[in-house]
Amino acid sequence: MKKTILLLLAALSAAGAFAAVPPALVPQPRLAVCDGDEGLQLADGVRISVPANNVVLFRVAEQFAQWMEREAGLRLAVAESDGPLRLTLDESLGAEAYRLTVGPDGLLVAGGTEAGVFYGLQSLRQLVSQYGTALPALRIEDEPTFAYRGTMLDCCRHFFTVDEVKTFIDILALHKINRFHWHLTDDQGWRIEILRYPELTRVGAHRAETVLGNNSAAYDGKPYGGYYTQRQVRDVVAYAAERFITVVPEIEMPGHASAALASYPWLGCAGEGYKVQTLWGVFPEVFCAGRDTTFEFMEEVLDEVIALFPSEYIHVGGDECPKESWKRCPECQRRIREEGLRDENELQSYFIHRIERWLNAHGRRLIGWDEILDGGVSPTAAVMSWRGTEGGIRAARQGNPVVMAPTTHCYLDYYQTDDVANEPLAWGGCLPLSKVYELDPYEGLDSLAQRCVLGVQANLWTEYIPDFAQAQYMLLPRLAAVAEVGWAPRRRNYDDFLRRMEHLRLLYGACGYRYAPHPFAH
Ligand code: ACM
Ligand code: ZN
Repeated sequence: MKKTILLLLAALSAAGAFAAVPPALVPQPRLAVCDGDEGLQLADGVRISVPANNVVLFRVAEQFAQWMEREAGLRLAVAESDGPLRLTLDESLGAEAYRLTVGPDGLLVAGGTEAGVFYGLQSLRQLVSQYGTALPALRIEDEPTFAYRGTMLDCCRHFFTVDEVKTFIDILALHKINRFHWHLTDDQGWRIEILRYPELTRVGAHRAETVLGNNSAAYDGKPYGGYYTQRQVRDVVAYAAERFITVVPEIEMPGHASAALASYPWLGCAGEGYKVQTLWGVFPEVFCAGRDTTFEFMEEVLDEVIALFPSEYIHVGGDECPKESWKRCPECQRRIREEGLRDENELQSYFIHRIERWLNAHGRRLIGWDEILDGGVSPTAAVMSWRGTEGGIRAARQGNPVVMAPTTHCYLDYYQTDDVANEPLAWGGCLPLSKVYELDPYEGLDSLAQRCVLGVQANLWTEYIPDFAQAQYMLLPRLAAVAEVGWAPRRRNYDDFLRRMEHLRLLYGACGYRYAPHPFAH
């Protein structure tokens, strides 16, 4: 009896008599419905067609074919002629918007631009993971809320190879993230080749050893280092661009400068005695804000950086800059007097403003951590709010563009459970998936100030993340929650998110990505 009913159900659903289970996508699309008509059977040899002469969409289609081979064992073909799986542009849609329909006429992904088509195909990957190759008839209309959906990877505390960085970018793409914030310089290592200043990588890319555990008194005794050549940087930037991800480089100033000072001691107030740091924390060795040579150095470094990175925004750090050396330095004190500054906070703001003027004169915009508000921020600088959302709220209320990345919700180096004894060492705190999901980037802002919120960002600092397997474990699945906050902040329900995540986790598995199991344990 039971068997008969099951057979009948199978026959009816194959005939399209039942609307299929609704699509379970992350991030949540604006609209996703199954309409019960005949769907589409994907099989080896099915053609993906792209408009003639659209090289970008041709490459996107080829990427999609590769994903399908890995994730579903399907061998699709890419052609400019008509195929049942069509990619197209529809200028009536927003730049990142897409419409995905499956019906008797086949499958159509229309995007406002190629980026929209790309996002439609990310959804399609998830649909194939959910339904297999027999896709039901459905319609998805979708568009992100925020233009900036970012993720930061710290490659200074630990170094990740170009291949690992590319896999990281692949993971971002799957989540429709469109900014990769690449943290390239810090106290424990300078990681980007600068041709004009070769000591930055000859000296600054290497530390003598690394502290063990949570800044214990013991060290591993092993030299550690690595950097990206400019050729490799170009390769990564191009790879990201093919996935519609802009790489935002971060060159830290005026703090977190030990590796630069170890390379060129004249960049610091004392002029000598610096080393690439071997433990974690905030260090008093910072760039001298009094000497003009510091600014000449910065501008020459940034000159090479902007040639490598087409990003409109260049991140200049600005966080955690102790001011003791400036208090003792005659050059810094002279600068304070001559510029009529009130104190060292205003000297930091002088530093950032001066760099911003240079960036603006070269067609770029400055973004920095929320400390750039201290001592006064220019009206045009963008603020990345990490010490909670207060800095972001203050900045948005005065009209500055803001990216919300508060420790309370976006720091994926924190533990993801309070069962700390059974977890690998992490920074501290406890940031479970459910808490990440609660972030409201608009909280505390009226509708005018809300318009200043560019978006949200997840941050992966790597003091306690020694390798890429660990990086993935910390990133996934929490990145998915940040992605949904950035894509669909007003349409959220955690239980429903978890239900949809059950499908995305299968796709993580098919891609070979490591993820933390905690949210799926029950
Ligand atoms: C930061 O976490 N220091 C921006
Ligand atoms: Zn100084």
